Amino acid sequence: MKKSCFDKLAPWYHFLETISFGNQLQQCRISQLAELSAVKNVLILGDGNGRFLESLLKSTDNSEIESIDISRNMIELANTRITSLPNSSKVIFIHSDVFDWDFPKFKYDLVVTNFFLDCFTYPELTNLIKKVSLSLKPEGKLIYGDFNVPNSFCKKTLTSLLLFGMYLFFRIFTRISANSLQDPTSLLIENKFILKNEKYYLCSFLKSQLWIKN
Ligand SMILES: C[S@@+](CC[C@H](N)C(=O)[O-])C[C@H]1O[C@@H](n2cnc3c(N)ncnc32)[C@H](O)[C@@H]1O
Repeated sequence: MKKSCFDKLAPWYHFLETISFGNQLQQCRISQLAELSAVKNVLILGDGNGRFLESLLKSTDNSEIESIDISRNMIELANTRITSLPNSSKVIFIHSDVFDWDFPKFKYDLVVTNFFLDCFTYPELTNLIKKVSLSLKPEGKLIYGDFNVPNSFCKKTLTSLLLFGMYLFFRIFTRISANSLQDPTSLLIENKFILKNEKYYLCSFLKSQLWIKN
């Protein structure tokens, strides 16, 4: 499998995000935080420059967090971002490809995937979601924040154009394997997840979902 590389993009990531979407992606990332105060063991997949991680640390004292990313530069940015927080020692950064990493079984109360699953093809998602499901305790939570294709014709056309441009950009600059947005809903249901809550942002172009493992 081809490996993506966000290292060169890492220093520009926040800037590009802000000029493209303002603060909407961050609103989407943190929209389920109120539901997460009691989580103990947390796994964040592909957290990038750590904006969700920082918000999570500010909202909880008790969580032990593992944050895994394939990009060393992204991990450095995330580490710098949280280093002055009193509970930053609760975070372990793991520099690895999620597909090479041995997910522990039934360990986590929460797994977070914000703007991460969109990097992968459907067969890759099939593999990954199975591992994520096995790594969660029963009743464990999964946050899925990502782009969304709305139903109405106008929004759907506009969104498809936007996504086409974004995938072209990311395939050129980061070599992600996906060339279109895959909907993980049926895979999540197959892996015994139940949708608990969902919120939409930016005219439904962004969505945040909270799933519970049955
Ligand atoms: C589109 S960025 C999203 C970053 C962040 N989650 C956010 O909300 O902005 C995708 C992130 O996933 C990481 N990533 C991509 N493929 C990966 C893989 N196979 N294993 C681990 N991390 C990966 C990238 O390095 C990058 O930091």
